[in-house]
Amino acid sequence: MPAKNKNILLGVTGSIAAYKACDLIRALQDAGFSVEVIMTKEAKEFISALTLQTLAKRKVYSEMFDLDVDFDVEHIELAKKAAAVLIAPATANIIGKLASGIYDDLLTCVVAATKSKVVIAPAMNENMYNNPVVQQNIGKLKKLGMEFIGPRKGKLACGDVGLGCLEEVQTITRFIEKLLK
Ligand SMILES: Cc1cc2nc3c(=O)[nH]c(=O)nc-3n(C[C@H](O)[C@H](O)[C@H](O)COP(=O)(O)O)c2cc1C
Repeated sequence: MPAKNKNILLGVTGSIAAYKACDLIRALQDAGFSVEVIMTKEAKEFISALTLQTLAKRKVYSEMFDLDVDFDVEHIELAKKAAAVLIAPATANIIGKLASGIYDDLLTCVVAATKSKVVIAPAMNENMYNNPVVQQNIGKLKKLGMEFIGPRKGKLACGDVGLGCLEEVQTITRFIEKLLK
């Protein structure tokens, strides 16, 4: 199936790198994908739903218990529609929830319900990334078949240089293209 017929479900979480989701939406669209967006509640502290909605050209999802929807069960429909679920940026928190089977919001429920590939692009402070619990969670999700891309080394939000920056948008896009070929 050509990229233009494929839908990427982009999960945006509460990282300082959430603003990079704007460029990621554009890059995925330029590669021919349509992009559906789910934001966690915390992601909205970093970037507005209006910005992502305008770029994606469609409704941005966030609420698990949203009355303003059609009568499909939303997380099941979103999970079915996605050729891949991409979480970028992915916080230590979302990685921990997925590794522990905690499905308490729309994004985690979609990941639980999807049969498609799940790709996780972490972004966090280097010490957080190297935390043994975070590393254990990443190892567990990799063993379960989830794909990880990045983080890369660079200037972190705290000003330090270290491992924890979201992988480059173009690199993530190429990774998705290759994965879905
Ligand atoms: C200014 C600020 C920046 C943050 N940046 C990150 C980050 O880059 N990565 C991360 O894992 N958590 C970061 N956090 C912590 C998350 O926002 C927090 O764990 C939150 O509960 C994540 O929720 P979510 O995973 O549901 O989106 C940051 C918090 C603040 C206040």
